[in-house]
Amino acid sequence: MAALGGCALVPTMGALHDGHASLIRRATGRGLPVVATVFVNPTQFAPHEDFARYPRTLDSDVALAERAGADAVYAPPHEDVYPRGLDAARTEAAALALPEVARMPGLEDACRPGHFGGVCQVVARLFDLACPRLAIFGEKDWQQWRVLDAMVACEPGRWPGLRMESAPTVREPDGLAMSSRNRYLRPGQRDRALGLVRALQVAAGAQHPHTAERLMRETLADHALEVDYAVVRAAGDLMPVSGFERPTRALIAARLEGVRLIDNLAMPICR
Ligand code: PAJ
Repeated sequence: MAALGGCALVPTMGALHDGHASLIRRATGRGLPVVATVFVNPTQFAPHEDFARYPRTLDSDVALAERAGADAVYAPPHEDVYPRGLDAARTEAAALALPEVARMPGLEDACRPGHFGGVCQVVARLFDLACPRLAIFGEKDWQQWRVLDAMVACEPGRWPGLRMESAPTVREPDGLAMSSRNRYLRPGQRDRALGLVRALQVAAGAQHPHTAERLMRETLADHALEVDYAVVRAAGDLMPVSGFERPTRALIAARLEGVRLIDNLAMPICR
């Protein structure tokens, strides 16, 4: 992996779709070899979550990554990423100092405690191994993007010359945000899953963040979705907001019979 120093890195957990492909395409043409990683990271899943059944489709992932312009796919075994073993890795992930945005009340940490510890751990490890000059993450996972960007900012000099970049969410023609977890949805559940994007669109027309939050909850309830959160926050640090004067983001996590879906949208400024 040392030979990969100077690459553009696109970390993924595989089951690649067009959203992942858009990140890979974005990394091309920068004068850097493009490396996509495929690693279903056990330390970011809680014991009751879907680690065991997470889709693993390496052959088609390699084909899709190549078509999108990747020069290499790195799909390491656990021992390469966690040479001290998984138990030690889990303990280390739980003890990591995380940027404040990872612990922001009312968001992912409230529903998936420990999740961002695992995410930061694996991405830092991949950065240490690959020494990338560019790393690209999707805005689909907005809080994850803000956490990883903050992680790099918190450790100046650890990954010299690394530029962090985000890329917009790629959606299905009906508006559903592409996700590896969409494979869990049965055909009849699809219209209900669209409740997330419909709620975000309704929020974008509201005059006040509180109204936006109420309208989102109503729309999600209309689609029989169980809400983990449906909030408007400052786009950068995800602090609560009382107006739309600065860049904000509406963020939703909701569950549909055991399938957890997340989505988010930039709210128009100053209405
Ligand atoms: P994964 O869910 O596979 O996503 C890999 C990257 O693709 C992330 O940066 C994610 O935000 C982006 N992505 C997913 N769906 C997208 C869409 N519809 N449009 C644009 N980008 C999209 O996120 C992870 O894996 C992991 O937590 C990881 C960062 C790899 C660490 O294990």
